[in-house]
Amino acid sequence: MAKLELKQINKKFGQVHVLHDIDLEIDDGEFVVFVGPSGCGKSTLLRSIAGLEEITSGDLSINGSVVNKLSPAERGIGMVFQSYALYPHMSVRDNMTFSLRLAGKSKAERNEVAERIGKILELDHLLDRKPKALSGGQRQRVAIGRAIAKEPQVFLFDEPLSNLDAKLRVQMRMEISKLHERLGSTMIYVTHDQVEAMTLADKIVVLNRGHIEQIGAPMELYHNPANLFVAGFIGSPKMNFIPCEVIETLDDGYTVKTESGYQFNVGITQRAFKSGEKITVGIRPEHVQLREEQGLKVKVQFVEELGNESLLYTELDKLDECLIVRMDNSLGHKTKEVSLWFEGKDCYVFDEQGLNCSPRREL
Ligand SMILES: Nc1ncnc2c1ncn2[C@@H]1O[C@H](COP(=O)(O)OP(=O)(O)OP(=O)(O)O)[C@@H](O)[C@H]1O
Ligand SMILES: [Mg+2]
Repeated sequence: MAKLELKQINKKFGQVHVLHDIDLEIDDGEFVVFVGPSGCGKSTLLRSIAGLEEITSGDLSINGSVVNKLSPAERGIGMVFQSYALYPHMSVRDNMTFSLRLAGKSKAERNEVAERIGKILELDHLLDRKPKALSGGQRQRVAIGRAIAKEPQVFLFDEPLSNLDAKLRVQMRMEISKLHERLGSTMIYVTHDQVEAMTLADKIVVLNRGHIEQIGAPMELYHNPANLFVAGFIGSPKMNFIPCEVIETLDDGYTVKTESGYQFNVGITQRAFKSGEKITVGIRPEHVQLREEQGLKVKVQFVEELGNESLLYTELDKLDECLIVRMDNSLGHKTKEVSLWFEGKDCYVFDEQGLNCSPRREL
């Protein structure tokens, strides 16, 4: 059992205010992923939960008791860092089962655990090596193994897969997911990888400059981002943003105009907009359609062919940003002019403050 509650947590390093009023509840057994740009405070928040950083104000509770003053060891937390600190003089086997030795487990018991975990992490042939004779990815797996061996109530992972190659990453992602199912422990995971965040999380916390922008299930954040920041952060490639002006109110939405003068319709919004108001229209690359005629004429700057799909990077005349189109294949669209079409129902409308004003989309 481990339910965490963060109430109004602030963290300052001297004058540097890194975390601002963090309120967050994490249920027992939940898999929570922290995402956000580099430097936004993900590691600091994780380290504060672990007890490696003292929080400046606020309360952190585990199962209803405030643990602000407890040492990391007293919190029952296992942590895997961005940089894995292994004991250089110990073998992989001993590194992984060090906590069991401290707990007084016999050599036979420790060996059994090391071998079982070694198999899961594909380290079974390396158990007697020292860390210096391992690759970065192998060391990272030893660090994961060490956390697993402790069987803590709460696992904290700080980009644990960042040094692995693509194939191992996928494999380890599945292992972590299975591990979560098997142990049922609460897991908090920091990553820059969209796929990891979307596939592992029960709940994603989007951080920006030490503030929580939004908390929600992956699909909720994808379909109902609260604001421009979340809309631009969740989803890859990112949502396209088109600065527009409201031209006319319709029965079922608005006619809007891009900076270059192209007019199109968007759907109804939760609050009314007046003609002349500035908005940002958001549309995901997978929803931009190509039309032979009609539509917004743009030049294709370049095409990324990925095999299963192609990404067209197109240039809007007056905008600095390019507009990305995701499509099944790129045949016939290389360095050409194309016409883009935005279906009103696929467009999000953000107001001048960046808030999403489109109606909630049912998942
Ligand atoms: N000991 C410290 N003293 C002063 N500032 C710090 C300290 N540790 C972190 N910071 C600052 O706090 C901010 C948040 O850092 P943190 O490591 O939590 O970011 P992060 O979201 O984990 O980034 P990344 O994705 O790059 O790992 C950064 O601006 C960083 O410079
Ligand atoms: Mg970090």
